[in-house]
Amino acid sequence: MTNPYKVTKALIPVAGLGTRFLPATKAMPKEMLPLIDKPVIQYVVEEAVDTGLTDILMITGRNKSSLENHFDRVAELEQTLKAKGDSERLEQVQESSDLADIYYTRQGDPKGLGHAVLTGKQHIGEHSFAVLLGDDVINAKDILLSKMIEIHEATGDNVIALMEVDPADISLYGCAAVTATDQEDVVIVTDLVEKPAASEAPSNLAVIGRYVLRGEMFQLLENTKPGRGGEIQLTDALEAAVKNPEIAGGVRGIVFRGNRYDTGDKLNFIKATIKLGVDREDIGEDLREFLRNFAKTI
Ligand code: G1P
Repeated sequence: MTNPYKVTKALIPVAGLGTRFLPATKAMPKEMLPLIDKPVIQYVVEEAVDTGLTDILMITGRNKSSLENHFDRVAELEQTLKAKGDSERLEQVQESSDLADIYYTRQGDPKGLGHAVLTGKQHIGEHSFAVLLGDDVINAKDILLSKMIEIHEATGDNVIALMEVDPADISLYGCAAVTATDQEDVVIVTDLVEKPAASEAPSNLAVIGRYVLRGEMFQLLENTKPGRGGEIQLTDALEAAVKNPEIAGGVRGIVFRGNRYDTGDKLNFIKATIKLGVDREDIGEDLREFLRNFAKTI
């Protein structure tokens, strides 16, 4: 019998306005900002594909057509590169269009992350699915999503990714209260609050942008009233699952200890570029040398 919780589809919300990156994001989606030589969104799509999820639904908004173009073919460019015999660049250009089956749906009104996820109900259907937030890049060397899917398929619980943060920063994130399980870094979530004040946060465990959810979560999202910021929050729907696990299962968390880059934030974007850059085969060594010399001057 096939596992009823098997995950084959991924949903990537990319409808955000990118106000933290203005004016760069005035006419260009924030997900198209390049980290070295690939737009941020390609890292996120590659992570889904590497985890075996090749059916990808992007929830888009206004100004996102360049994103669709990036994952489409560009016949003229391919022909020019072919005629020149530049097979290396041809491969790079074709890579993004051959990655996955990507579908797009518009969110319409930007009513929050929970609402963006709910927009995907028709495409996802009743099956379990993964949600990857377009701002969060997880270093490809660190295992996260595949472990989350493994736990979901084994337990039928929704699985969220958590990371320890400085308590002063918890108000930027969803925050989870948890109890331990006998598996290292796997926890049971007992309470979830969206962006609590530091003084009211139940822990310093922040929700980061990877989720594995049961299809029944759509029911909970439909019944979720606007919360923090007047928006329909995914965190609130998950809190409903914590309180009423008979509808859509309970919620487990994985405490992630690898590298996660919040590319929606200027300083973190620069840090991400540097950290990914030093690991690159083509430019890593030169960049390391530059950084060593530069560090002496500041
Ligand atoms: C969203 C979620 C929040 C989560 C964060 C992770 O917030 O609502 O719970 O901690 O993503 O990046 P946003 O950053 O979209 O405001």
